[in-house]
Amino acid sequence: MTQPVMKSKASVLVRSLTLLMIAVSSAHPLAAQTSVIKVQTDRYQAEIQPTMWGIFFEDINFAADGGIGAELIKNRSFEFSDPLMGWKMYNMSKYSLNKQSGSIQIINRSEENTANPHFARVQINSDSSLVISNEGFRGMGIHSGERYHFSLWARQQEGSDTKIGIALITPQGKSMGEAEVNITGTEWKKYTVSLLASATEAKANITLRFTKKGIVDVDMISLFPQDTWKQRPNGLRKDLVQLLADMKPGFVRFPGGCIVEGYHLDMRYQWKKTIGAVETREVIKNRWNDEFKHRPAADYFQSFGVGFYEYFQLAEDIGASPLPIISCGMACQFNSAELVPLNSLDPYVQDALDLIEFANGTADSKWGKVRTQLGHPASFNLKFIGVGNEQWGPEYIERYKIFASAIQSKYPGIKIVSGTGPFSEGELFDYASKELKALKADLVDEHYYRDPKWFLDHADRYDAYDRSGPKIFAGEYAAQSVSTTSPENKNTWLCALSEAAFMTGLERNADVVHMASYAPLFAHAEGWQWTPDLIWFDNLNAYGTPSYYVQKMFGTNKGNRVLPILMDGLPLEGKQQLYASASWEEAGREVIIKVVNTDNAMKHTEIQMEGKVKNSGTAKQIILKGDDASAVNSFASPQYIAPQEKVVSFKGQTIVLDLPPQSFTILRVKMK
Ligand code: AHR
Repeated sequence: MTQPVMKSKASVLVRSLTLLMIAVSSAHPLAAQTSVIKVQTDRYQAEIQPTMWGIFFEDINFAADGGIGAELIKNRSFEFSDPLMGWKMYNMSKYSLNKQSGSIQIINRSEENTANPHFARVQINSDSSLVISNEGFRGMGIHSGERYHFSLWARQQEGSDTKIGIALITPQGKSMGEAEVNITGTEWKKYTVSLLASATEAKANITLRFTKKGIVDVDMISLFPQDTWKQRPNGLRKDLVQLLADMKPGFVRFPGGCIVEGYHLDMRYQWKKTIGAVETREVIKNRWNDEFKHRPAADYFQSFGVGFYEYFQLAEDIGASPLPIISCGMACQFNSAELVPLNSLDPYVQDALDLIEFANGTADSKWGKVRTQLGHPASFNLKFIGVGNEQWGPEYIERYKIFASAIQSKYPGIKIVSGTGPFSEGELFDYASKELKALKADLVDEHYYRDPKWFLDHADRYDAYDRSGPKIFAGEYAAQSVSTTSPENKNTWLCALSEAAFMTGLERNADVVHMASYAPLFAHAEGWQWTPDLIWFDNLNAYGTPSYYVQKMFGTNKGNRVLPILMDGLPLEGKQQLYASASWEEAGREVIIKVVNTDNAMKHTEIQMEGKVKNSGTAKQIILKGDDASAVNSFASPQYIAPQEKVVSFKGQTIVLDLPPQSFTILRVKMK
């Protein structure tokens, strides 16, 4: 009895091994399995809005002062809480020299000038000189061979003809460009002079050498590169704007973010105080100055050198729709949560109405006239306005209603962006979504700062959204490699890849999702508070992260209409670790296919193009890939992960394609 049992055990073992071998041998073809994807080239679905992929600008991480604003002098008007922050005096204690040399006093004339109360009174006691210097924003970035425009407001209080020698100085104390201004009168006057830089330096500073006995008042001490974006005075840093323009964004949301709200209401963003002559723009502490104890930035203020006029101009320059966000009378609910009582909201609502008039009003309207006088007679063509940022609860809905009713009755054509708060789901989110839907809100802003897995798992987020509800503005999102607000977050390839996968879901649902933007946009390598960020810069250079290239690839390969792209009759949102969307671009008669492969293995794919519209046998292929999920770009390797392009040819209506492991591929297929 035993033997046969043994025999039968042996035969079972043999059979099992055979089955295993069959399974293993069939595992090969399985590994080399072809993923069949079908694109229906003539089934035009939802229109993809021109605003679909945009940018979110906030003055966080030194994005404005010390960033896109090209001003090189920090605390140019002595308005920081410590009025001499950023300034140094040689041979003197903070406010006074030894008796022989001179002194500096900070004068506060707030009675006569509320916007710019402080100036510096420099007393030179002898005919030898007194030197002050400014350190810039973590140094000043100076490029060899470039011209820099220096200016200051000054008046002679005592004595005459004080000379101020201006020099750009290396950290080693060497001069790399000099000029001089001669103060000539007792009235405030603007003096300008230019300097030619003889060297490139990321950490330069500037010195002002006052010579001749006397007293001189100085204010608004400024240094700009001549070569700003479009060569504008008070202009923007050209390399940074170029990176934005290259993304071809559909909109620019500004000025934030939490900066709109303020820690307290008196720190909210007030657009009217940010336009006109720069010396009339009131400086305030930036709300990110001391928000994060782990990344304090005591010298972070808002000079509003980049103000609302500049933001509108920026949007126009890069072909994007402006999307300003205004305070709805609620300070940041993570901070003071101050509220303006409902019956006192009028000035806030009026600010919103005036802003629309400022952007679009004719030259004979009050605010249209201001815009015209600033040099822009044409309308800025404002179509959207945001009411509040990350507000939540009934307090928000009550205030939103008041704004919406005022805006809709005066400007029915303007679309209002409302918000669901800081979280991508949960009680606050559900409450706001339900209320805003009932109120028939135009566009609802949703934010998601989540881990990469969340982005992959939610590529289908909008498939089930109610098509009769508000449109969606995915206004702030970024995959967090560690966790939200962790200073350890990195802009890894895995984060970028998961964002790309998620974005195919946004595109497939373009009937619901009308706008989307990554956040935050910029970070100064030495001055940041929040990470990850789309673009990193220092005083001389800038680079796009892998997420930047994902955004750019979507922005520059958008298309006008969604096309169905299916596997086994279903949308591709994770099956075989593939995510996909497709669109039709009328102008060039192209089918644009986007496929994200999150697998560690190469995917052999057959893309079958079905429909009456036939392809012409060639396509442009753009591939973004990384060899390691944790790979990042850096100043040393700014394009370690960057798109590569080639032209591919094929026969018939099937494109055979090997999708590299962990890659994002776009195919632009020319159609007949
Ligand atoms: O993008 C950084 C911050 O994140 C924004 O200011 C705020 O809206 C969000 O909480």
